[in-house]
Amino acid sequence: MTEPALADTVLEIRTPGGGSYPLEIHPGALGRVGTFCADHAPAHRYAVISDSHVAELYADAVLESLRNTGAGAELVSFPAGEWNKTRAQWAALTDSMLGAGFGRDSAIVALGGGVTGDLGGFVASTYMRGIPIVHVPTSLLSMLDSSVGGKTGVDTEAGKNLVGAFHHPAAVLIDPAVLETLPRHQRCAGMAEAIKTAAILDESLWDWISSHAADLVKGRPAPSSELIRRVVSHKARVVEEDPGENGVRGILNFGHTVGHALEALEGYTLLHGEAVAAGMRVEARLGELLGITRPGTVGRLSAVLEACNLDGGWEETARPEAVAEAMTRDKKSRQQSVRCVFLARIGEVALDPEGAHTFPLRPQDLGAPLAAALRPASDA
Ligand SMILES: NC(=O)c1ccc[n+]([C@@H]2O[C@H](COP(=O)([O-])OP(=O)(O)OC[C@H]3O[C@@H](n4cnc5c(N)ncnc54)[C@H](O)[C@@H]3O)[C@@H](O)[C@H]2O)c1
Ligand SMILES: [Zn+2]
Repeated sequence: MTEPALADTVLEIRTPGGGSYPLEIHPGALGRVGTFCADHAPAHRYAVISDSHVAELYADAVLESLRNTGAGAELVSFPAGEWNKTRAQWAALTDSMLGAGFGRDSAIVALGGGVTGDLGGFVASTYMRGIPIVHVPTSLLSMLDSSVGGKTGVDTEAGKNLVGAFHHPAAVLIDPAVLETLPRHQRCAGMAEAIKTAAILDESLWDWISSHAADLVKGRPAPSSELIRRVVSHKARVVEEDPGENGVRGILNFGHTVGHALEALEGYTLLHGEAVAAGMRVEARLGELLGITRPGTVGRLSAVLEACNLDGGWEETARPEAVAEAMTRDKKSRQQSVRCVFLARIGEVALDPEGAHTFPLRPQDLGAPLAAALRPASDA
């Protein structure tokens, strides 16, 4: 059977202030960044912020497309890597733009992964008190996750993403064809967020991912477009429902309570998605042990993660007390109470007796269930 021809996918993402912005997904879209920006973020000059890896591959095409519309366009690049998502790099990018004379009639195009989106977004939110930004995400994680929601920011010595601002983009343009140059382990890590979304919200998406996993980890444009459309639609709806992050948005943290702790314990040597995959396995197992999650869920989760090369295993050597301690240090835990999302089953989260989407967990109660949760399935 041949794949059906892909129509342009255009989603309208609503923002808390009553506005909205378009998010377009189309293989080959990079070639029309210029007209897309002219339509949705018209400006005299564009600063294309991009990291060193992505700039080398795609900046020329983007600059040419922008200049073809008659606008000015210059590259402002920075060295690739999470360790450059800092206030110092924010200052360096801002100074480059000031030095080049970018004025209030300029706009930013953030061309790259989540680091570029967060850093470029933070520059856009503060440059001359705020200028428009168009996100052109190029990693699977940034296409699925970070380009929607308006969060921008940088890391500090005290932790990740602790300084930043909300700044919604004028528009988002996604070209899934660029996933073919993304390193495979980065594509696999990006799949963790898609699997998370299906696990908490959508069993039919779960089944679809299960049967397309091989093509998705290869970054094939057609199934990747479909995946991005479905995952982004879910994220956008959840974010719309809970702009203040007091309720349902918490479910997006499935796998992240333990995942963030593992990430910190491993000194941020893991990719975020690898830590989230392990976090989902541990939290699902904890949910089964506590009688909240339907038995058999861990098995289904492990099978899909394995199909996406996210089998992990290293997390089983983590010390439960250290994991529990790292969980209480996480900024998302409030007043010493660690909160955790549990699945009721694949496609649905459990609600606590008060109807909340997250369950409070006292750190002192974590040791025993974590010890069991961290054990490989074969020992259980
Ligand atoms: N703002 C949000 O809501 C939000 C949500 C989730 C994650 N994040 C942030 O996103 C960041 C992680 O994003 P990431 O995983 O995209 O990291 P990243 O931006 O560092 O990209 C990963 C690597 O892939 C390279 N790359 C990206 N696209 C490529 C392509 N098409 N071809 C070849 N190489 C390519 C990059 O140069 C980099 O080396 C973290 O800092 C995280 O905090 C933000
Ligand atoms: Zn995440």
